[in-house]
Amino acid sequence: MNNQLFKNVDDYIMKLFATEDSSLIAAQKDATDANMPEISITPVQGKLLHTLALTCNAKKILEIGTLGGYSTIWLARALPEDGHLITIELDPHHAEIARANIKRAGLEPKVTIRVGSALEVLPEIKSEKLGPFDMIFIDADKPSYPEYLKYSLQLSRPGTLIIADNVIREGDVLDENSSDERVVGARRFNSMLAVNPALTSIILQTVGAKEHDGMSLAVVNR
Ligand code: SAH
Ligand code: DHB
Ligand code: MG
Repeated sequence: MNNQLFKNVDDYIMKLFATEDSSLIAAQKDATDANMPEISITPVQGKLLHTLALTCNAKKILEIGTLGGYSTIWLARALPEDGHLITIELDPHHAEIARANIKRAGLEPKVTIRVGSALEVLPEIKSEKLGPFDMIFIDADKPSYPEYLKYSLQLSRPGTLIIADNVIREGDVLDENSSDERVVGARRFNSMLAVNPALTSIILQTVGAKEHDGMSLAVVNR
């Protein structure tokens, strides 16, 4: 694949539509300086999520996997004045960096970080009746994606948009015999989307600043 061309085109799209302001630049810098893994979404993907959140009039957003809050900022910026985003993060250090990044972006009043394993926090969110969410972004540990989809459906309403990152993994999902738990999780997740009659779904391949991957989009049928 012509990776340099994909990067150049991603850069072109970024400069036209997704230039980062000082809060987003600082959020990335602080995450890197804190030695966090460089696995956040790209600016162009951030603008895609932001645009989709506006499209579905999202007032309540749920994110699974915060890291340094980079995707959180793109999403929360699409919220109306009385909108809210809950983001779940396992690692307290990641959550601490994210909290500072979200605060600097002026989004503290609109964002709640729930620290803990998503498989423990999701049932809490359910029992606290914090749903249904208008949009859900799944981006935490890949082996648990099938479980995250089950909870997402329980926290949805007709019209909810459920998005998941990293569902193609440089094409590794083509290997039906893969022993990589992340690939197994993504493959299982993708087929759950495909066969669920309550969902209308598709996957977009993503190329550009990061490695070849994909994002799934699924809407809960009305
Ligand atoms: N959405 C972020 C990137 C998330 S990276 C962005 O694009 O900016 C994945 C995050 O999920 C990491 O911070 C990791 O610590 C967290 N994570 C991993 N396992 C988890 C779990 N079981 N529950 C909640 N978060 C988890
Ligand atoms: C990984 C996680 C991500 O969310 C991502 O976008 C890329 C890589 C990872 O855990 O390796
Ligand atoms: Mg990701």
